[in-house]
Amino acid sequence: MRLTMRRRQLLGAALLIPLEGLAQTCGVITPRQTEGPFFSPNSPQRTSLIEGGEKTRLVLAGTVLTPDCKPVPNALLDFWHSDEQGAYDNRGFRYRGHQHADAQGRYRLETIVPAEYPGRTRHIHVKVQAPRGRILTTQVYFPGDPGNKRDGLYLPELELKRTKAGEGNFDFVVSV
Ligand SMILES: [Fe+2]
Repeated sequence: MRLTMRRRQLLGAALLIPLEGLAQTCGVITPRQTEGPFFSPNSPQRTSLIEGGEKTRLVLAGTVLTPDCKPVPNALLDFWHSDEQGAYDNRGFRYRGHQHADAQGRYRLETIVPAEYPGRTRHIHVKVQAPRGRILTTQVYFPGDPGNKRDGLYLPELELKRTKAGEGNFDFVVSV
């Protein structure tokens, strides 16, 4: 009898862990950040920003969620970031592109790890918008980057989670 109770308690504890994890990834709207001086409207629709020949490839993937943890199908995500030298393409659309999340709110971006530039640690800019929702402008950062502590805009809650080498995950929570 005692053993059964213990087993039940253990099972209960094990079940609580993923639920707590889920509560942390959504529930709070992703913090907004400045778009900075380098946003360009009308980026091309594409999920890969790879040009060829880059050394530091990155796949950034995740889900767009509502504050009550429901996926946002067809959410718009518009990404832009600097190149491997820390420069933005302000004439064309290199390292700029938008895409729509799938029916489960999932997105996937193939790109490179951008370089830092004076005053800024490594980051990726993004605008995320639920269909007919308010645009959320923010930035995503790289965990363990030494530049993070020197950058006044850096926020630990905007760090992507490294899943494996060259891959990162970030779930956006937007109002609908
Ligand atoms: Fe930037």
